[in-house]
Amino acid sequence: MANAYISGTGFYVPPQVVTNDDLVKKYGIETSHEWIVQRTGIEERRFAAEGVGTAELGEHAARAALAAAGLQATDIDMILFATLSPNYAFPGSGVLLQRRLGVAEGDNPRLIPAMDIRNQCSGFLYGLYTANAMVRSGAAKHVLLVGAETHSAALDLTTRGRTVSSLFGDGAGAVVVSATDEERGIQGVHLGADGRHAEVLCQKVWDITKRPFVPLDDEGRGLVEPDHLWAQMDGRKVFRHAVMAMSGALVDACTHASLELGDIDLFVFHQANLRINQYLADQLGIPPEKAVHNIQRYGNTTAATIPILLAESVASGKLKPGMTVGLAAFGSGFTWGSSIIKW
Ligand code: UT7
Repeated sequence: MANAYISGTGFYVPPQVVTNDDLVKKYGIETSHEWIVQRTGIEERRFAAEGVGTAELGEHAARAALAAAGLQATDIDMILFATLSPNYAFPGSGVLLQRRLGVAEGDNPRLIPAMDIRNQCSGFLYGLYTANAMVRSGAAKHVLLVGAETHSAALDLTTRGRTVSSLFGDGAGAVVVSATDEERGIQGVHLGADGRHAEVLCQKVWDITKRPFVPLDDEGRGLVEPDHLWAQMDGRKVFRHAVMAMSGALVDACTHASLELGDIDLFVFHQANLRINQYLADQLGIPPEKAVHNIQRYGNTTAATIPILLAESVASGKLKPGMTVGLAAFGSGFTWGSSIIKW
């Protein structure tokens, strides 16, 4: 059986920088740079321009990852697209990315499968689990895994929505998961979920048990109340569960890989809140220099946080071949996951 390794990484963030002060001055939100930095570590985030969507952000990241892997888009056997902010309710952004990459065009069209992954902040790890299984089983030689979000279009950028809207930003990260005979690569991916907390961090928009699924006005236009339109979150509950679930998942990943936490050279955690990751590191005795962060610059980009951070760490030389890397994420669902990769 082949091993699966990450043969290329890439990322893209849109150029528009939105600082914490911009949230106050441009959007009129009653918040402050100090409040946001103290509670979350976030200093700024990126917002995509009107007209730009999640598949487009994903395409930039995907092309960078393919170039880093030395591959053409036509070499890919499968696309996995993790997002909670797809371009449309359906179809998924995976098929839109496939179209953008042009693999279905020309004399030898490659009508490769494209699958969307709906696991929010854990989406990248759910995708890595799937990519690893596809490559190790021999079903695919190269899987393109993208995590991308356009949150800015669906944030309540008013004081009412500040608990959620001050946290999130737009961006995309991508990896190519490829087969290798070498003794390296993904040592396992460990996933978990606890649907008892499904509504603790949730954006309902519609309720499919209702007839019709959104209330209508007299002219047949949909009417969505603000608490359904925008994401709702019990932040404290998410915070507590995040620390517990990610630390448990990392310990599990080590046990399965017959490693100690101290054997891991670099920790790449989901970027939801710098404080969550500091608690996690404290609890597990991880020295600060072994963990990388970029939430200060991008906020929480949900499915994109880990692949962006991997791509940045490769580019900066912090992540080098031969290193052992630990990944962990937690988010809405609740869902969580961890992985250890021999890079
Ligand atoms: O990927 C997973 C996604 N989410 C997370 O990981 C989030 C995890 N949770 C958190 O990061 C924190 O719970 C938050 C940063 C979201 C909030 O921090 P907190 O210390 O738990 O604050 P809180 O929600 O308990 O709110 C405390 C106060 C409230 O005011 P009152 O009711 O005490 O008057 C909020 O209205 O802080 C207020 N508040 C804000 N004030 C200024 C909430 N958001 C803001 C804001 N600026 N942006």
